[in-house]
Amino acid sequence: MKRIITALLILLAALAITGCEEAVIIPTDQFQKRPYLLYTNDNTSMTVAWQTTGQTQHAYIDWGSSTTYTNRSVVWGDSANLYTFTIEGLTPQSRTYYQVTVANESATGSFMTAPLAAATNLTFYAYGDNRDGPIAQDGLLARLLIDMRALPDDRQTFCLHGGDLTFYGLDENQWDEYFFNREYTSTLDFLAQFPVMIALGNHEGYSASYLHEDQPGLLARKYWPYPYYAETGESYYSFDYGPAHFTVIDQYSNNKSYTIESSAQYNWIEADLLATAKPWKFVVFHEPAWTASTQEGYHGNNTTIQQELCPVFAQNGVQVVIQGHQHFYARVSPPDGRQYLTLGGGGAALNPPDANAAYLAASAQAFHFARFDIEGDVLTVSVLDENGALLDQFSVSK
Ligand SMILES: [Fe+2]
Repeated sequence: MKRIITALLILLAALAITGCEEAVIIPTDQFQKRPYLLYTNDNTSMTVAWQTTGQTQHAYIDWGSSTTYTNRSVVWGDSANLYTFTIEGLTPQSRTYYQVTVANESATGSFMTAPLAAATNLTFYAYGDNRDGPIAQDGLLARLLIDMRALPDDRQTFCLHGGDLTFYGLDENQWDEYFFNREYTSTLDFLAQFPVMIALGNHEGYSASYLHEDQPGLLARKYWPYPYYAETGESYYSFDYGPAHFTVIDQYSNNKSYTIESSAQYNWIEADLLATAKPWKFVVFHEPAWTASTQEGYHGNNTTIQQELCPVFAQNGVQVVIQGHQHFYARVSPPDGRQYLTLGGGGAALNPPDANAAYLAASAQAFHFARFDIEGDVLTVSVLDENGALLDQFSVSK
């Protein structure tokens, strides 16, 4: 009898291990935010973060090159029950499996470290404006995961987010309701496997009463505590990933001074783009310079960015500008030679693009994400909807 019970326990354990890559187990009560990833801007490490529901207690993280997990550390949370642990000493472009355990509950994930700095090929994803549409976001991310799994294994990568991750971004509850919601399994699966690199949206500065606009990104920075944010306290930063450099602009802090030539952020944008030697350069921000609109202003084209910053992008060889805010897909190709994408179909209620917009190359009123494939001197961008239908595809050659 004892042997039978032992055999049954082994079988159950084997089933649990076999299923851990795909299955997401809905937690009962330990995880407020299940594990998600923070890119360290380094190809030999990755930070895993999570938040617990209870009082600060110790948790365990196990990791290794397979789910046998050859390493274990104890991790303590901070006063907000937020835990971060950086796994170091990894090989570039290699897979690491991890498991986080809090009391009797575990959550798993895996990631690829970034490739070598000299790498010539790269895949990454981008979307934005899920805001208050977690169901649509979950469907979209389910498709993104299908897309990623169809790629060669070493193409697992990171994802840009163009902002508006919740409706009231200064309200703690909304982060659990709209972005980290434990009921949406594809979103959890995505977060456990993709570091998400965010640009601030206007909604990251809103409280439920639309007050506190003097604290834009306060909670976004809490949940993405990157050490490489600007020292000014604003949420702009840049990072490298293989052959590409990404410059992420904060449009909301410091009285929105980013387009003014003497401001700290404007000077940083110029210096950052000038300093990088990467062959591929992308700029990310929320409110578009160019989009599918015939209007100017808040929900149209931002002529101030066009006049003050787009020349800086052009002078420094930026190929693609990634934006959001408008809840549709648009690609605008003005005479400055850059491609300006609006990737605002991440889950919030959709809006119609204006087909009469200047220099409009493609548009769609649909939920969508974009996949960027760099192969040496050629970048191919594919924009897909939640059913996998191709909405747009274009290439840029260096
Ligand atoms: Fe927005």
